[in-house]
Amino acid sequence: MPELRGLHWDGSALHFIEQTLLPEQLEHVKTQDWRVLVDAIKRLAIRGAPAIGVAGAFASLLAWREVDKDRSKWLDILDVIEDARPTAVNLSYAVKLLRDASQSISDDALDELLTAKAEALAIRDEEMCEEMAAHGLELIPEDASALTHCNTGALVTYGIGTALGVLRRGHDTGKVKRVYACEARPLGQGSRLTIWELDQLGIPGTLLSDSAAGRLMQEGLVDFVILGADRIASNGDTANKVGTFNLAVLAKRFGIPFYVAAPSTTFDPSTASGDDIVVEMRAADEVRNCRDRLVTIPHAEVYNPAFDITPGELVTAFVSEAGVHRPPYSFA
Ligand code: MRU
Repeated sequence: MPELRGLHWDGSALHFIEQTLLPEQLEHVKTQDWRVLVDAIKRLAIRGAPAIGVAGAFASLLAWREVDKDRSKWLDILDVIEDARPTAVNLSYAVKLLRDASQSISDDALDELLTAKAEALAIRDEEMCEEMAAHGLELIPEDASALTHCNTGALVTYGIGTALGVLRRGHDTGKVKRVYACEARPLGQGSRLTIWELDQLGIPGTLLSDSAAGRLMQEGLVDFVILGADRIASNGDTANKVGTFNLAVLAKRFGIPFYVAAPSTTFDPSTASGDDIVVEMRAADEVRNCRDRLVTIPHAEVYNPAFDITPGELVTAFVSEAGVHRPPYSFA
C-alpha cells in the first residue's frame, strides 16, 4: 500500500485528498489555483490545523505566481486566504510567515523565497509529527486502549499526524492495542476519516457515538485520551473539535489522563486565554442533515459550533515537538 499522504507539493502544484468523499472514494486533486485551495479549506476538503496551515502557505505562493508582481493585489489575496477559517491558528501563522518574508525582498527574488518558506513549513511539519510521536510514547502505558476525537492523522498534516501519529507509533511499538474513536458529529471526522485511517494502518479501531464516551470510560475501557488542537492559548486553554471539552470533563471525573498533541505552530502565545479564541460557527444544514439526508424537520433551528474550548486545567499534559509540557502552563 502506498504511503497515505493528505497533501503533497510537487514543486509547482499542490496535491490533496478530497476529504469530503472519504471513506467511499479516495480522490486526489492537483491544483495550481489558490482559489481551489481556499474553497477546499472552507468545504473541509482540506481540514485539520496543520494541513490548512500548509495549504495556506502554498495558496499564498500560488497567488504570487498569478498576480504578475502586483504586490497590493497579492496582499489582498493573502487576507482572503487567511480568512478561510478563523479558529486554527496554523492558517494565519502560515500566511503571516510568507507575508512577513516578502517585506524586504525584491519582486524578482520573491518567488524563490516564498517557495523556500512554504516548502520548509511543510517539511518541518512532517518532522514535527515524528518528534511529537517520540515524546508522546513516554506517556503511553503498556497494552493501552486510547480514546481520540476528530481526525488527527496523515490526512491533516504533512506527516504521520499529531495525536494519531502518537497512537500510530504507539501501535508500532506494541504499546497501543486499541483506539476508540468518537464519530465527531456533524461531519463525521471520526467515523469517516479516523476509523478509515486506522483501518488503512492495521490498527484495531472501535467507533462510538459521541454520547457513548461516558459509558466507555465508566466501563474502564479507556487508559488515556489523546487528541489534537486548533489553537492553544498561552494559559493552555485549547480550541479543538466540538466535543473535546465534554471528553475532558469526563476524563477528569474518571481520573483518566487527558493529553493534547500539537506542533508549536498550533500554540498561540498572543492569545491569553480561551475567551479570546474565535470559535467558528458553521451552517445549520450540517446538523440538519447526515451525509445529505435530512435527519430533522427542514426548518429546525440549529446550534453548530465547529469547536469548543477546553480549559487548560483539564489537560494533563501537552505533547509538542519540543517535548511533554505539564501544568502550570505558560506558553507566552
Ligand atoms: O473542523 P476540522 O475537521 O478542521 O477540525 C479539526 C480538528 O478539530 C482537529 O482535531 C485539529 O485540527 C487537530 S488536527 C491535527
